[in-house]
This record gives sequence, C-alpha cells and structure tokens, in this order.
Amino acid sequence: MEYLVKSAAAESQRTGCLVLGVFEKRRLTDTAKQIDGVAGGQLTAILGSGDMDGAAGQTLLLHGLPGVTAERILLIGLGKEKSLNERAFRQAVQSMSGALSGCGARDVWCALADAPPRGRDCDWAIRDAVQQCESLLYRFDTCKSKKGKPLPNARKITFGVASADAVAAARDACKAGLAIGHGVNAARELGDLPANICTPVYLADQAKKLGKRFKSVSVEALDEKAMEKLSMGSLLAVGRGSREESRLIVMQYKGAGKSDPTHVLVGKGITFDTGGISIKPGAGMDEMKFDMCGAASVFGAMQAVAELELPVNLVGIVPAAENMPDGLAIKPGDIVTSMSGQTIEILNTDAEGRLVLCDALTYAERFKPASVVDVATLTGACVMALGHHKHGLMGNNTAVVNKLLAAGRTAADEAWQLPLGEEYDEQLKSNFADMANIGGRPAGSITAAQFLARFTGKYKWAHLDIAGTAWKSGDQKGATGRPVPLLVQYLMDQVGS
Ligand code: BES
Ligand code: MN
Ligand code: ZN
Repeated sequence: MEYLVKSAAAESQRTGCLVLGVFEKRRLTDTAKQIDGVAGGQLTAILGSGDMDGAAGQTLLLHGLPGVTAERILLIGLGKEKSLNERAFRQAVQSMSGALSGCGARDVWCALADAPPRGRDCDWAIRDAVQQCESLLYRFDTCKSKKGKPLPNARKITFGVASADAVAAARDACKAGLAIGHGVNAARELGDLPANICTPVYLADQAKKLGKRFKSVSVEALDEKAMEKLSMGSLLAVGRGSREESRLIVMQYKGAGKSDPTHVLVGKGITFDTGGISIKPGAGMDEMKFDMCGAASVFGAMQAVAELELPVNLVGIVPAAENMPDGLAIKPGDIVTSMSGQTIEILNTDAEGRLVLCDALTYAERFKPASVVDVATLTGACVMALGHHKHGLMGNNTAVVNKLLAAGRTAADEAWQLPLGEEYDEQLKSNFADMANIGGRPAGSITAAQFLARFTGKYKWAHLDIAGTAWKSGDQKGATGRPVPLLVQYLMDQVGS
C-alpha cells in the first residue's frame, strides 16, 4: 500500500472513496462537516434517517453524494467524542480497513486524522493509522497451499491535513508509521514461522539478508566454534540437546558518527522451547515457536531504523538456539560457566532464556553501549502479572527505564515497571555455583531479571519481558510484532526525531 499526505479540499478529490469520521450521536468531524456543506446537508439527512449514529465500529458506505467528486463516501463511527482514546481510534482504523477490503475503491482519501485520540495530534493519528493499516494487511500464508483472505482493492491511501504548513510534519509521521508497520510485520512473519523452518541458522540468514538490503547494516553470525572461543558456556549449554546449531547474530547499524553513542538491543532467540529435560506439558506447546519473538522484535526494529535512516548507532544482538531434550542435553543440576566467568547451576532447563541472554549481554560490553535493552519472552509469571496488554519492564537505570516507559506511551505499545532489589536477588542462591538459574515461584519475572542484572553491571540496562504481549493465542493465534513500535520510538527519542 502507498500512503500519501496532502492538504487539499476533500470535496474536490477524484477518489474512489472518501473516509469520514462520525462521533456519537451523529456529530460530524471537520471534514465531514465540509462535505455535508457542499452536499447540501445530505450527510446529516442520511444520519438522521437512522442508518448510523456514530457508535464505535459502525460503518456506512454511500454512493453518489451530490456535489462531491468522490465515487464513494465511507462513514466510520468513532463512538463518543469524549472517550476517543487510542484503542477507540485503532478500532476506527480497523473498521475502515475492513470496510475498504469489501469495496471496489482503488484509491482512498482518509480524513480520520481529523479526530485524533484525546491528548494526541493529527501527526500521531496519521502515523498510527499508517502503521496499523500496514499491519492489517499482514497475512501469514507462507505455509498455506491456498492464499487466505484477499487483499483490499485499494492501492493508495491519502491523508488530508488542514493546512500546507502541516504537510511536512505529517509526511514524516506517515513515513515513520510505514517503517514501523513494516518492522512490525517483519517481526510477525518471523514469529509465525514454524520452528522447523525458523531455526537459529535461518535467523542468521535473515539477518544477512537485512545486511544485504541496507548498506547501513552489517551482519555477523558467530557459529558454535566461535562462541566456544569466547567461552559462552551458558549460551552453548542451551543448544546442546538440539540438532540445530546455535548462533550469535550481531547486526550493526551505523546512522551516526563514530564518536556518537551506540545503543544495543538484545533479543531472546529460542526458536523452539520444549523446556529441555525439564520438559513442558504438551498442551499448547506449539506456541513455544514464539519463543524467538524478542529476537524478531530486534530484527523488526533494526529494519525500521534502517528504513528511516535514523541518525543513531544501533547494535542488535540475537542469541539463537533451540531448547530440546536429548542424550547431550543439559540436565538439572548441571553447572556451566558463562562468558563473564560466573558459574550457573541449571536447576531447571526450562529457564533457558536467561542462559542465552546472559552471554549475549556480556558480549554487548564490547560496544561500550550508552544503553542496552533486552527483549525476551522470558517468564510465564509475567503473563500472570500483567496479562497480554503491557510488557514487563525492569532495569538498573532509572533514566533508561523512564525513557522506555515514555516511548511505550508515545507509541501506544506500553510497558509497566516491576521492581528489582537485593531481596529478590537472594532467591538465586546456589549451594554449588555462583548462582542458580531459577529463583522459585514467587516473583518469577523479577528473579529472572535479577539473574540478567548480574551480567549487566557495566552499563545502563533495561529488560522487557514480552511473554504476554508478543503473540496471541486462540483463534487469533499469531505474533503481534510488539514491542517494535516501543523500541523504534525509544531510538527516535534518543535523537529527537
Ligand atoms: N519461554 C518460556 C516463558 C514463557 C512461558 C513465555 C509461557 C510465554 C508463555 C521460558 O523459557 C520459560 O519456560 N520460563 C519458565 C521459567 C521457570 C522454569 C523458572 C516459566 O516461566 O515457567
Ligand atoms: Mn523455557
Ligand atoms: Zn523460553
């Protein structure tokens, strides 16, 4: 889909479909009022006939309105003006997208940015609408012999803005929305791919593809031998029970000068998590193909940043492995030595995410990072604590944590902070090694982060637990592409763009 921004009169657009918002009860948004004016009050009359009152989710498609050059008019119910928040706005965009897919219009003029959610501006609305429209076009049919739902006929959506002065900023917003949408979809595709296709080596190949696509991105994938040289005993331990080779994928984007700060993103890349010898129960185990969604979000963010040519330096690190049980697999009680030199007693082989992340976090030191953010489907406990709506967030630096919280709010991809502290750290005590890899049932998400904190003493660090937010279960089963919007916003905020 192509997205444009223009400041021109909506009523004189030769467009296949003009999309207008209507608040409850039959309150027209600005552009809708204009159209109503040139159409001699026809919109008001139609609404008055009882076909639509503007409730959220309602749509009404009209043809041949007098005085209007558009072939069709699509009215979208926005609900009560007072309760137009981000969710309601997204619902409106979704309604638009749904209605457009069943309509013949090839190009669309969209005036929904007339009605941004409360506290947001028109640019936010355009960016979010573009991001969402792009994400609504996503279909996972890579593995289907027949293609699924057809794509809409529309090829082009133009957003109308009020004045010529507003065009430049709105175009930037549009560009950002598109790049983030692409990043979200890239992350969803990787997440949705089954684990027999999306292996650690496959992820490494995808990274190399990204490196080929963008001159600004260089990629390196360390194989097991290279990791052994670096003494990544913890990362390597996780893949021992798998026929699939592990990889440490390193992507470097250079968008700023050498002396400018470098930010690092680390993504958990467990391409399948059986639990290992501490094997998981069978029900729903297929969803553990999503255990690389942290990695997928790092890929997605990296791609969006490269597409936007953001003036930052960014390194993406993905420790990728498959957690399987076999004769070589790690066993409860095994002790491994991490790259940092610290030893770990593996009391539960299902707490494998932290085992791959800790060596990646030590590896991150070499980039002298201004900040390190790791993203991981780390704990079931996080799903219990926060459900499927907000990411869990912990860190060793208040400024970085606050920036991530703010970025999540800006991008409407929110995180919620959980505490860290010595008292939790004590739960990791081991009688036989420097630490255990589990801290018992209480505060499972926090003790997991406490484990990671032991490897992040040399820089400012934060951890996003996306176990509840990275994918959906049930009939909507699939990766969400979160937290790509949050991550890209965080990086945009670093450079004030
Ligand atoms: N990948 C899982 C976490 C997970 C579980 C994410 C369910 C989403 C839904 C992780 O590797 C894991 O198994 N964690 C264990 C840790 C425990 C053994 C300390 C968990 O959460 O049960
Ligand atoms: Mn696990
Ligand atoms: Zn896992």
